[in-house]
Amino acid sequence: MDNPQALLRIENLRVSYRSGKAYNTVVKGVTFDLGRERLGIVGESGSGKSTIGRALLKLLPTAKIEADRMDFGGTDLLAAGEKQMLAIRGRRISMILQDPKFSLNPVHRVGDQIAEAYRVHNRASAQIARQKTLEMLEAVKIRDPERVFGLYPHEVSGGMGQRIMIAMMLIPEPQIIIADEPTSALDVTVRMQVLNILNELVTNKGIGLIMISHDLNLVRNFCDRVLVMRYGEVVEERPARDMKNCTHPYTQGLLAAQPHIGGSRGPLPVLNREVVSRDTKEVHA
Ligand SMILES: Nc1ncnc2c1ncn2[C@@H]1O[C@H](COP(=O)(O)OP(=O)(O)OP(=O)(O)O)[C@@H](O)[C@H]1O
Ligand SMILES: [Mg+2]
Repeated sequence: MDNPQALLRIENLRVSYRSGKAYNTVVKGVTFDLGRERLGIVGESGSGKSTIGRALLKLLPTAKIEADRMDFGGTDLLAAGEKQMLAIRGRRISMILQDPKFSLNPVHRVGDQIAEAYRVHNRASAQIARQKTLEMLEAVKIRDPERVFGLYPHEVSGGMGQRIMIAMMLIPEPQIIIADEPTSALDVTVRMQVLNILNELVTNKGIGLIMISHDLNLVRNFCDRVLVMRYGEVVEERPARDMKNCTHPYTQGLLAAQPHIGGSRGPLPVLNREVVSRDTKEVHA
């Protein structure tokens, strides 16, 4: 059923990477929509999570992307040319990646990079862009924005680097953020800070957040809704609070394999991949 609040509507998305003369399909008909909510995409390594994120921004030059529908607020992403995508990428849909060190330019001060991100999308004087940058650094809970503005990427810790990346993503005020394993390189305290920032964005600014992770516990505690992926397909879709009632054997296996504080100290169950049929598909809205 169509969700009138949806920011994004994806139907039957298929993505194939070229492998020699043939194509290897790694996303095999994925359908979902995204409202002003936290949508988690979880699944084992190689299940196609990052490919979906990149396909939405058409950041896959060597892949074939097909879909029955890829609608972003009335814009057909599938039909959009590179010029149109340039106006969408970073400006209206942003992506936060796992390791900020690869995304920041090592030879420029972090403040200048954020200010530049602002000026690319807004006509503004250097002075205004600097002011806006300092505000953004404060918004991502950086205590001494003036000092951090002047640092080079190698001078910031992993956690601060991730918050700087978020500031850079947020400065053009996107409507959708795709966060691909945004906290997996962070320690527990910084992870909580980053999750809190993302949470505030959904609650206060009404953005739609796609949180990609292999961590089922993280996703089901943080998100409103969860898609479970396996071999390029969504095998289960549920409200996060309802994950315990999952029906697909793969999701049940994943849940059973989560350690519980205070639980028994016996060995954790091992996911039996043979029993879990590759083509069973159950979707619960
Ligand atoms: N550029 C590429 N060319 C060819 N195959 C690729 C490319 N990128 C990814 N793949 C393949 O596509 C499949 C899905 O990869 P993807 O990176 O989307 O998985 P993922 O779910 O994000 O995994 P992870 O949890 O390890 O990040 C994998 O089999 C991967 O090897
Ligand atoms: Mg990935």
